[in-house]
Amino acid sequence: MQSSENKATLSFSNGAPSVELPIYKGTVGPDVIDIRKLYAQTDMFTYDPGFMSTAACQSSITYIDGDKGELLYRGYPIEQLARNCDYLETCYLLLYGELPNETQKADFTRMVSSHTMVHEQMQFFLRGFRRDAHPMAIMTGLVGAMSAFYRDSADIHNPKHREISAIRLIAKMPTLVAMAYKYTVGEPFAYPQNHLSYAGNFLRMMFATPCQEYKVNPVLEHALDRFFILHADHEQNASTSTVRLCGSSGTNPFAAIAAGVACLWGPAHGGANEAALNMLYDIQKEGGVEKIGEFIKKVKDKNSTVRLMGFGHRVYKNYDPRAKLMQETCDEVLTNLGLGNDPLFKLAKTLEKIALEDEYFVSRKLYPNVDFYSGIVQRAIGIPPTLFTAIFALARTVGWIAQLNEMIADPEYKIGRPRQLFEGSPRRDVKPLGQR
Ligand code: CMC
Repeated sequence: MQSSENKATLSFSNGAPSVELPIYKGTVGPDVIDIRKLYAQTDMFTYDPGFMSTAACQSSITYIDGDKGELLYRGYPIEQLARNCDYLETCYLLLYGELPNETQKADFTRMVSSHTMVHEQMQFFLRGFRRDAHPMAIMTGLVGAMSAFYRDSADIHNPKHREISAIRLIAKMPTLVAMAYKYTVGEPFAYPQNHLSYAGNFLRMMFATPCQEYKVNPVLEHALDRFFILHADHEQNASTSTVRLCGSSGTNPFAAIAAGVACLWGPAHGGANEAALNMLYDIQKEGGVEKIGEFIKKVKDKNSTVRLMGFGHRVYKNYDPRAKLMQETCDEVLTNLGLGNDPLFKLAKTLEKIALEDEYFVSRKLYPNVDFYSGIVQRAIGIPPTLFTAIFALARTVGWIAQLNEMIADPEYKIGRPRQLFEGSPRRDVKPLGQR
């Protein structure tokens, strides 16, 4: 960390001595005030529920400028990565810090491909679930269960183990998601085919049956690969912070990633893509474009809990750059599939236009996020909405594991242990049962 010449001084109105706090500079973005010694010096904690102003770690992986609507992986703009690289190159970049050259890319691809199969026993574990279980319930279980199957790479303090478990997780997530899907629709599992691309193999495992030959559609393959790139990492969001906090106890990487999967499930986070598509379906059912005005009214009503799903972001106070790329992909996929006049896509575009001109959204700086269009893309590919978040988890696994490995390798890393402002009862004595 680079110290700044500036220092922050914290003074108190009760005359207690003021405290000088060091300031550190990042390469870009806001500086941070180091408050680690604050408690020792003042007997006070800071209070910041929701981490509105708190940097919980130092990181060199992903940078977001929310005001500009900029997203960089290891310094590279997301637009350039999405247009010039594939998902496995992006994984390499997130894990190792640099884009691979040709040989490194070939070696990395070979390594990931050679780990795509899951232990055969895993399917018996999967079969214990109800057929109608939500795929995220299944994924939370399956990813956690990996720690029982791959104990030989579970020591988080061993760099070799960390590397092998990273490769295993990236390689096996598509297989597990596709198995969860096949299980819920009652079709036989399709084993991975390692000559296919990462996205192509996933499409085949999802949609191939033993009854007929499956040919990967290159437009859908490209769309899915872009979806994976756009979701690969997003700095210290809720699920990534969950993975870091969980991993900070020294637990194995599979358990830490399972915690990330569980956190991602929520509708304010990864579950938003499913919720956004369901919202579009609901508006469509009630009359489509004509009903947008009524829907927006509900969203703006202080007494209603309805939100415009796929809009708003804690960090982006401008257009989410991933949403632009997703909208482009949406156009490509729908055109390729002859769905250029898809009513849901038209509805989404109209809804977006109306919201972007509405004072409520303008004044709160609410813009479309990546989930606004990703549901339409996935639905066009044939992916059911209940599987959307599991596919987000598949793509985000590399970010989680890169962030986890970065934390473990950081000499300043400590077990995460937030403090609290206690507002409950002070000490009191237990009365015998008859006197309570
Ligand atoms: N629709 C309507 N109003 C909204 C929305 C929305 N989607 N998002 C925020 N607001 C309003 C909110 O009611 C509040 O208004 P007021 O100041 O009058 O009380 C104001 O904007 C600030 O909202 P907030 O909840 O304090 O903002 P936040 O930073 O805590 O929440 C968010 C961020 C993403 C949880 C929120 O915008 C939201 O719920 N969006 C819909 C869900 C969604 O699309 N989530 C996907 C996020 S991107 C994928 C990912 O990274 O996981």
